[in-house]
Amino acid sequence: LTELNQATATKIATLPDAQTVTEVRHWSDRLFSFRVTRPRSLRFRSGEFVMIGLLGDNGKPLLRAYSIASPSWDEELEFYSIKVPDGPLTSRLQHIQPGDEIILRPKPVGTLVHDALLPGKRIWFFATGTGFAPFASLLRDPETYENYDEVIITHTCRTVAGLEYGRQLIEKLEEDPLIGEMVAGKLRYYPTTTREDSPHMGRITTLLKDGTVFRDLGIDPISPETDRAMVCGSLNFNRDLKELLESYGLREGANSEPREYVVEKAFVG
Ligand code: A2P
Repeated sequence: LTELNQATATKIATLPDAQTVTEVRHWSDRLFSFRVTRPRSLRFRSGEFVMIGLLGDNGKPLLRAYSIASPSWDEELEFYSIKVPDGPLTSRLQHIQPGDEIILRPKPVGTLVHDALLPGKRIWFFATGTGFAPFASLLRDPETYENYDEVIITHTCRTVAGLEYGRQLIEKLEEDPLIGEMVAGKLRYYPTTTREDSPHMGRITTLLKDGTVFRDLGIDPISPETDRAMVCGSLNFNRDLKELLESYGLREGANSEPREYVVEKAFVG
């Protein structure tokens, strides 16, 4: 254990919801991902989130919502996080190391699940920043490829470094023994950056509105008959994309009432 977390970890160990960190990867000075042990009893649907965190200075759990980035068949749980220098949780969480413990409340919830969508031919996953996390789970779930003929993941970040976690994950998918074959020919990846040069520049909302995305991918525009969508990003991003999807005739669904698209706010700070 790191010296920093020694005291905290000792205290967490006495809690019922402690899980052990097994791997940490830093993607940039602003982004990292980590894996923890999975409670034996935890069942979840790909795309859902749980509350995770550390013990605060006051001895009380400091928890935030985090999408589970690993698929439901994985033995461990993976998370993808931003590092906020003065963020109450992430300023500390970014220092975790294998062997450390975190708190994980094993009560998965969320709307970015297949159950909240009506059957369709094509599914779009729209992410900005760490909003990629729930799709990291869904993209590794065989159900995604069983349900749809075509899976399109768009990821918009300020910089190329912001895309790296997603880019590597998608690259590995195609070599994956479990779903590599299902993915081939079905998955389209459309990464864009807004503040650094890359092959696709601009906000995905702009590129949808002016038709660039459809031209680049050689496909028909979004329609309620064929298309389903899941959206995960900042509040403004979610609002703008919602408006756009509604303009194509898609309606927002929920677990209790499946429709054509669903939205969830990405964890920030
Ligand atoms: P931009 O650089 O033009 O603000 P952030 O780091 O602020 O969470 O943003 C992540 C990415 O999402 C950035 O590339 C940002 O573009 C983009 N973005 C932010 N707000 C919106 C929005 N309302 N619609 C589309 N893209 C957005």
